[in-house]
Amino acid sequence: MRISLADAKLVRCMGAMVAVLTICIASAQQRGSDGLGDRLYPRLGNGGYDAQHYDIALRFEPQENHIRATTTITAIATEDLSSFNLDLHGLSVASVMVDGGSAAFERVGSELVIRPAQSLTRGATFTTAVDYAGVPQPIVDPGASFHKLGWQTWEDGYFAAVSEPSGAMNWFPSNNHPSDKATYLMRITVPADLVAVANGVLAEVIVNDDSARSFVWRMDQPMASYLTIVAVGDYIEARDDSGPVPIRNYFPAGTDADILSGYDITHEIMTWLIETIGPYPFTEYGVVVVPGYPVALETQTISTFGDVAPDPLVIVHELAHQWFGNSVSPGSWEDIWLNEGFATYFMALYHETHGPQGAEFLFSSIHIDLLPPGDIEVAELFGPGVYFRGALTLHALRTEVGNAVFFDILREYYRRHAYSLVTTADFITTAEDVSGRELDALFDAWLYGEQMPSLP
Ligand code: TRP
Ligand code: ZN
Repeated sequence: MRISLADAKLVRCMGAMVAVLTICIASAQQRGSDGLGDRLYPRLGNGGYDAQHYDIALRFEPQENHIRATTTITAIATEDLSSFNLDLHGLSVASVMVDGGSAAFERVGSELVIRPAQSLTRGATFTTAVDYAGVPQPIVDPGASFHKLGWQTWEDGYFAAVSEPSGAMNWFPSNNHPSDKATYLMRITVPADLVAVANGVLAEVIVNDDSARSFVWRMDQPMASYLTIVAVGDYIEARDDSGPVPIRNYFPAGTDADILSGYDITHEIMTWLIETIGPYPFTEYGVVVVPGYPVALETQTISTFGDVAPDPLVIVHELAHQWFGNSVSPGSWEDIWLNEGFATYFMALYHETHGPQGAEFLFSSIHIDLLPPGDIEVAELFGPGVYFRGALTLHALRTEVGNAVFFDILREYYRRHAYSLVTTADFITTAEDVSGRELDALFDAWLYGEQMPSLP
């Protein structure tokens, strides 16, 4: 095609206009998005940066359930940014500093919108320090209806922040989505007669001038925000250093002997899981018992339990999550069966290897159709379809490929994806690679089929 001179000029002129417009629009809109597009939780997390490390220095006044904190986040910009968001629910923000300079900020619902004095360049590492205070407001989350989430008071003067999925944002600002794992340092300062328990290893206990103590906890492996825990109370540490991984449990002073001894079995379960899956992902393990806490949660390196004698199967479930969920983590909430189906199947395997009943025992009470675990809505996040049909998916796979190949699949899936993010497709790929078989039909039927296939 021939272009006349006039046309060519017009084209060039239009080209220039488009370029100018693009620059204007781009510079006006270098805003990090206010969500990561999670199908179930579109507003959780934020776009434009990748959090690397959280340093949370928090002082707690139990009388008023009041916190005052500075959270400093090291992140890498993944876009040019004139502004970006953190997730923070309630509390009042006193100041925000980006790279040491004061930054403008605005609160919009559970979003903290930050506009640094100078725009950030894609690829740059930057720090954001948020100073804030207040009484944390527990969060109602449609995915977890058993209790409110985040920092709150439990019974007998104990406090704990348990968060899956969205609760972490009621006590520290973050990129509150499991696709952005980071390391943590938490320095929790409490009155001298109390103990603060958190994730990782206790690096230091500092006695301050005013006799309050700071408990400094380091979590050096990546962790999702929903797996953070802080528990404060009159805690006693109980250690067992005789097994493959140091175990330290935190029990409320005066806890009944049958609750304490219920955890003796942890060491044996740990040994079995290491043999079955691979090395334990972290340096230490244990539980923190929170009076009145109604369920259990696999908070990283230190699972949270209530103050009742523990069911060994729940110990198995939460410990199995340290591999499946905490080290190998789904990057979106709709893949939660990769956590709960796996942890539940280990309960069945424990039955088989440690008790009189086979793996089927766990499923013998299921006579109804369970919803497909691969295709869920928020209210079904922690429902029986995810837990039991998820576990049955693994049982169906095992029945199909045989024992030896099945356990090779589990080990290989763990080995490939330790400390990182996965999707359901990653598990199917590993299962097909290791078995040398085409398994789409099986996974389609179990994960997505409207009707539950019959039990294998
Ligand atoms: N992941 C937990 C488990 O099965 C269940 C759970 C989800 C939960 N959200 C929670 C427990 C919030 C306590 C609080 O082990
Ligand atoms: Zn679970």
